[in-house]
Amino acid sequence: MLNPQVLVVDDSKTIRTIISAELKKHSIDVTEAVNANQGLACTRRKHFDLVITDVTMPGIDGYQLCTEIKNNPDTQSTPVIILSSNDKHEEIEKGFEVGAAAYITKSRARQELVPYIKEILDRAKLLLDKLVLVVDDSKYILSVVESGLTAAGFKVITASNGYEAFKIASEIVPHLILSDVTMPIMDGIKFCEKVQNHPSLSHVPFVIMSSGSDRRTMRELLHKGASAFLVKPFNIDQLVITAEKLLSDHFQIILQQREIFKKERTLLMGSITSLIQALEARDSYTRGHSDTVSNLSVKIAEKMSLSEFDQERIEFAAKLHDLGKIGIRDDILLKNGPLDNEEFAKIKEHPVLGADILCPIPSMEDIIPAVLHHHEKMNGSGYPHGLSGNEIPLWAKIISIADVYDALTTDRPYKKAFSHESTMQFIKEKSVDELCPECARAFQAVMRDDDSPLS
Ligand SMILES: [Fe+2]
Repeated sequence: MLNPQVLVVDDSKTIRTIISAELKKHSIDVTEAVNANQGLACTRRKHFDLVITDVTMPGIDGYQLCTEIKNNPDTQSTPVIILSSNDKHEEIEKGFEVGAAAYITKSRARQELVPYIKEILDRAKLLLDKLVLVVDDSKYILSVVESGLTAAGFKVITASNGYEAFKIASEIVPHLILSDVTMPIMDGIKFCEKVQNHPSLSHVPFVIMSSGSDRRTMRELLHKGASAFLVKPFNIDQLVITAEKLLSDHFQIILQQREIFKKERTLLMGSITSLIQALEARDSYTRGHSDTVSNLSVKIAEKMSLSEFDQERIEFAAKLHDLGKIGIRDDILLKNGPLDNEEFAKIKEHPVLGADILCPIPSMEDIIPAVLHHHEKMNGSGYPHGLSGNEIPLWAKIISIADVYDALTTDRPYKKAFSHESTMQFIKEKSVDELCPECARAFQAVMRDDDSPLS
């Protein structure tokens, strides 16, 4: 990856040299310009991640340089630090008026410049390519907010009501949502509710742009999961600061959560793998069953174009689908012959037992339905809850096909293995009323693609 590119504009060779030497120590590439005109020409030739400029120079001054950079659509998102020997309040204010990201006096530069630069570069990296979905029925507001956010370095996508926005967000998950409240077709309240209930969107910070300051609506929306409010008319700087703050806080939280989650998952995977091995060691017929079902389930999910996240979770759920059998007595689980009604009723408890084992573990929450319902059937004749059709979670329907295939094509105490061909025929017939037809079609395609499906 390229080093950050910084332009230093100062008419003093000594200052340029000191700053350049300091920045190079931090692997930052520096270009020097002796005055603002030369600096401006540099910004038009090449992209810089940051510009540091003196104020008083021959020709145009640093404020004018900053204004020119901010007025040019190609460079308006480049942050500018103003470095001045003057610490008067009016001068500092002027620096921010022309759009500088920071104003540092030369006397404090030694301590403050590098930390500021790092912060600004990190923030720019953090915001790079961050996608904001802006939802408002006013074309004027959409265009003002869009141009303000684009100038600050965000990518923007717009929608004119909650319905349209929800459709877009379900396909391209944005990093942040800014939404009006009163809109036709679907208002901001309903939209916020739908976003919070959608598993891939509930973590996206949701900012309300409201034209009134109706406290009740605000409270209701905060209760529904909105992260912040902006009361119209707001200025674009306010909006950009809110967006940056939410994204950087959010980013930090996500990083921390991901770390904790990773550690927890590694630990859990270790213990659960041991559990599964212990379970399969009891029964030589089912050794390797969980791994096979898991491999096949992922292939079906991939064929159905499910997301990488879905594929990962299905892999995990499939590994654990029969975990509950750990609670079934040996004389029933390992019985060499047909089961009577009472014994079969005991076996049928294993999805619920599996779900109960996983229930106290927060990171398992999303896979529990797949474990619990992997023996449900499309016509409602399965167990434990007799769910039918779309009531059965998709992950469970996928695992169910892989489970049936592996169970039929391996020897069991009560039956010899079926051939691949007759198992495929069986699955085809059952996909009318018991197995999910869409998953069965994907499974058949997996088998067609792959001569050795279990490799
Ligand atoms: Fe099972």
